[in-house]
This record gives sequence, structure tokens and C-alpha cells, in this order.
Amino acid sequence: MSDEEIKEEVRKTYAKVAQSTGSCCDPGTRSDYAKSLGYSVDAFPDSVTESFAGCGNPTALASLKEGEVVLDLGSGAGLDVFMAAQQVGKTGRVIGVDMTPDMIEKAKKNAEKLGLNNVEFRFGDIEALPVDAESVDVIISNCVINLAPDKAKVFQEAFRVLRTGGRMLISDIVLEATLPQETRDEVASYTSCLGGAILKEEYLQSIRDAGFTNVRIISEASFNIATSAKIEAFKPKGKFTD
Ligand SMILES: C[S@@+](CC[C@H](N)C(=O)[O-])C[C@H]1O[C@@H](n2cnc3c(N)ncnc32)[C@H](O)[C@@H]1O
Repeated sequence: MSDEEIKEEVRKTYAKVAQSTGSCCDPGTRSDYAKSLGYSVDAFPDSVTESFAGCGNPTALASLKEGEVVLDLGSGAGLDVFMAAQQVGKTGRVIGVDMTPDMIEKAKKNAEKLGLNNVEFRFGDIEALPVDAESVDVIISNCVINLAPDKAKVFQEAFRVLRTGGRMLISDIVLEATLPQETRDEVASYTSCLGGAILKEEYLQSIRDAGFTNVRIISEASFNIATSAKIEAFKPKGKFTD
């Protein structure tokens, strides 16, 4: 499949998740799952948690501060954006980017329900971010980059939009060993966040190649060949600003 065909399959899958249809999407189960990852979700309506599809809790690791500008890559129905919005307060701002129209629509409705005006959802591809250069303090992402065919481009874009000294906190699926070709070729395996995952070292190197420093795994949990990893990286301060 071409990269565009892969993205279309990803969109179709996550449109269903946004609509909370199919066996994937029992609202109670997703809310309990979010709680098991440490989210405090009791104050949120079901429409925020029922489409949650993360594999970690990046805002719990990001040490967000009042006034910061945060960007969530692949924001889905908005849970991490809303968590971040609580932490950066009225003087901060959180932008979510997603390429599935149903997710953007759902996230916008959720923001309205929550009465939040320090959040914004933009339709777009994380391989070509609709965000100005050097405009963001912190990037977060939750179980998304494995779905992007060109991960190097995602990290280059993340580097471009971060301010110098900015940080990136990612939760994502990486591999301990190469997947069998038939698993890589299965559309369902790709869209369920396994088939598009790459080797852990390759993933970390791709972040370094984009220019990030102090790239490290904060924590990880392995399930056979796949690992759910929490990764931190920094955009170095310039020569004269260190
Ligand atoms: C597994 S879900 C995770 C959603 C959200 N981060 C969460 O934790 O609930 C993946 C999301 O990433 C989005 N996505 C996948 N590839 C993308 C890309 N190249 N650009 C923008 N969004 C993308 C999908 O539309 C979907 O909403």
C-alpha cells in the first residue's frame, strides 16, 4: 500500500473509534482503561473518554507549567489536550492536531461541553504540521507516531515547531524485534498500532536524527515483541542561549 492508502485506512479505523461504534468502543471499558493509566476522568463526560485510544499518559510526565503552549500530535477525541489545558491554565494554550475529521469534530464538541477556551483542534497531518515554527513549548503524543508511515518527517516537524529548549513527551508502541512480514502487511495490525511500529533503537535514532538531544526512555512495559514506551527528548538551546 502507498503511504496515502495507509493513512486512509487509519482514518477509516479512527472514524469508527470517534463514532464509538464496533467492538472496539465500550465507553465504560475505555474510561476504566484511562483510569488504569492514571487519568482522573470522573469530571469528564463519556464523550471524552469513550474514544480514548492512548497507550500511556504523557501529560503525567510532562511537568507542564502555567502559561505554556502545548501541542498534541494525533489528539483524537481530546483527552490529553484537556488534561494539559487544566495544567497550563488560562494563560497557556493547547493545540491538538489530527487527520481524522470525525475525531476533530468530536474533540471540538468536547471542548465546547467543557467550556474550555484555551484549547484548539486543527485538522492536519503530523508529517506536515499546520503549526508555526518555534511556536510551541511542549509536544505530547499518545500512541500515534507508530501509525505514521514517515516517522522521520514527524520528528523533523516536531523539531521545527518547538521553541529552543522545548521538550517532547511521547507514549508510543515500539518493537523489540522485527515483526513477521505477514503481520506488517495486515491492515488491521497496522491500524491497531502494531504493524506500523518500528524497532525501539530505530525510533530513538530517528528522534536524534531530527536534532533532539537527551533522548531517553523514561519507562517501558513489554508485551511479547511490542513495548509501550514513554520517551522524553529536548530541542537543544542555541549556542548563545545555553
Ligand atoms: C490510537 S489513536 C490515539 C488518539 C489519542 N492520542 C488518544 O490517546 O486517545 C491515533 C490517532 O492518531 C491520528 N493519526 C494517525 N496518524 C496521523 C497523522 N499522520 N496525522 C495526524 N493524525 C494522525 C488518528 O486519526 C487517531 O485519532
